[in-house]
Amino acid sequence: MKTPADFPRVSLGFLPTPIEPLARLSAELGIDLSLKRDDFTGFGGGGNKVRKLEYLMAEAIAAKAGVLITTGGHQSNHARMVAAAARRFGMDSVLVLRGDAPTAYQGNLLLDRLFGATLEFLEPTEYFTLIEPRMAAHAVAARAAGKVPYVIPLGGATPTGALGYVAAVEEMNTQLAAAGLAAPDAIVAATGSGGTLAGLLLGAARFWPRTRVIGVSVSRDRAWFQERIAAMANDTAALLEWPERIVAAEIEIDDGHVGTAYGVPSPGGNAAVARLAATEGVLLDPVYTGKAMDGLFGLVASGTIARGSRVIFLHTGGSPALFPFADSLLGA
Ligand SMILES: Cc1ncc(COP(=O)(O)O)c(C=O)c1O
Repeated sequence: MKTPADFPRVSLGFLPTPIEPLARLSAELGIDLSLKRDDFTGFGGGGNKVRKLEYLMAEAIAAKAGVLITTGGHQSNHARMVAAAARRFGMDSVLVLRGDAPTAYQGNLLLDRLFGATLEFLEPTEYFTLIEPRMAAHAVAARAAGKVPYVIPLGGATPTGALGYVAAVEEMNTQLAAAGLAAPDAIVAATGSGGTLAGLLLGAARFWPRTRVIGVSVSRDRAWFQERIAAMANDTAALLEWPERIVAAEIEIDDGHVGTAYGVPSPGGNAAVARLAATEGVLLDPVYTGKAMDGLFGLVASGTIARGSRVIFLHTGGSPALFPFADSLLGA
């Protein structure tokens, strides 16, 4: 049996990130709520993808990569962090993003440009047919230019990337133990590509077997995530040579808070962004963490998370996307 520490990893983030109790919001909700502040991982603007990239960049460096190629939505935090990681190791990056070519570069798009990424935009209707051939074409072009390409799939969602969130549960376990606290009743996280939840589930299976791991979808439906996340978590268990197995049907996914579509702010998500700012001075974002917090409010209101529960909300970052959605957030 191995641990995540046995795998090659570069140091990018400021770890461990703090676990912060939210006294005022806890009193309002009737639960004991803390944030795991992975918005404070720091590197390249911070967020959850830093933990995954620490492992993926070790692979890219071992492969002698000169160009990182990845994909995401217009306001992809993952793509922005890949661009930053490329620069840290003297590499280039190509980001193939879903959406029309923008008229203004704001939020993550602005940061992508500051990190020197080459950007390509795919029409949303053509995205799923074109994405694989376009990433492959960029890899061919990189080779022709004498550089080794390293392709990172959407969200960095690979078993290697998921090691980052297995390690994050171990990190939280150590933090809580040092504070004399038991494992939480539940951990709740935004779920976009599923890699974070896969790592959390496997980490919890090992370190926190009685803790519920709840993903709030910001994109697909429950069944899609259950299959994908179970497969990824079990592939990660195989990498680690762990006996734990994750059963698809047992994975808790709340898919009732996506709104119109991935990447489109929802009224509930925007209200959650405003509520966290007003009660706690904490910044969420309208694409991921606002919708996930809206989901948490719903789970508490419906009694799915019982009053008095100890809950950790994984703050996965994403605040650069506040700015391009200013009008939506202000209700214009
Ligand atoms: C801010 C933020 N939260 C949550 C997620 C979801 O993580 P995952 O793609 O691992 O499900 C992402 C990335 O997709 C993100 O950028």
